[in-house]
Amino acid sequence: MEFKIENDDGIDSWKEVTLVYSAALKQIETKMSILNEEFQHVHRYNPIEHIKARIKTPESIVKKLKRHGYESTIDNMIKHINDIAGIRIICSFTSDIYRIADVISEQRDIKVIAVKDYITYPKASGYKSYHMIVTVPVCLSDRTVDTKVEVQIRTVAMDFWASLEHKIHYKFEGDAPEHIRNGLVECAKMVSDLDARMLSLNEEISALSHVKV
Ligand code: GTP
Ligand code: MG
Repeated sequence: MEFKIENDDGIDSWKEVTLVYSAALKQIETKMSILNEEFQHVHRYNPIEHIKARIKTPESIVKKLKRHGYESTIDNMIKHINDIAGIRIICSFTSDIYRIADVISEQRDIKVIAVKDYITYPKASGYKSYHMIVTVPVCLSDRTVDTKVEVQIRTVAMDFWASLEHKIHYKFEGDAPEHIRNGLVECAKMVSDLDARMLSLNEEISALSHVKV
């Protein structure tokens, strides 16, 4: 996939873009694994089940730029595409989502640009997740670049639902039959109920073990 580059150093620029965004992802991943270890140490509990990180493919970036009416230039992708670097943090309980979001917001070097709380306000499809667009400074040899990263935080159950919904969305090119869409909305409700029950059971267990100690 070719990008139009204003400054004539095509390959280097694209290379630099991936280098900078990968560095930003690594920093957030490291912060999250430190948080998980510290939580295990202090609270005997891991809020994070696992983390997935990815750099958007050039094909997908070009498609998104086109969809929004922008030319495929490095400048445009940096300015207009917020999810070139994406990280998905999967946790056990809904309460962990907000705990992790708070910790991210409180990091001195991270700037929160935007938040979309699809947990409190789920999408019509039933999609639930907490999204943040943040910037993290990436220090290069001659300058520091504030780099955008899309952070998605969700429970294991929400992730299970989103994976299947994504597959169905692609299979039917966004136009799934009504009974399938309705089925997904029903499953989303079951996911919310499951998350709520698991959270309340966990709170009960924690309270009990607290009394014992
Ligand atoms: P995109 O152009 O898709 O990036 O959306 P956006 O910039 O309007 O932001 P939004 O917060 O709606 O979505 C960002 C990302 O969240 C998407 O790229 C998906 O990874 C995920 N997402 C959002 N809505 C849904 C949904 O209904 N189903 C699934 N499976 N994922 C979703
Ligand atoms: Mg996206």
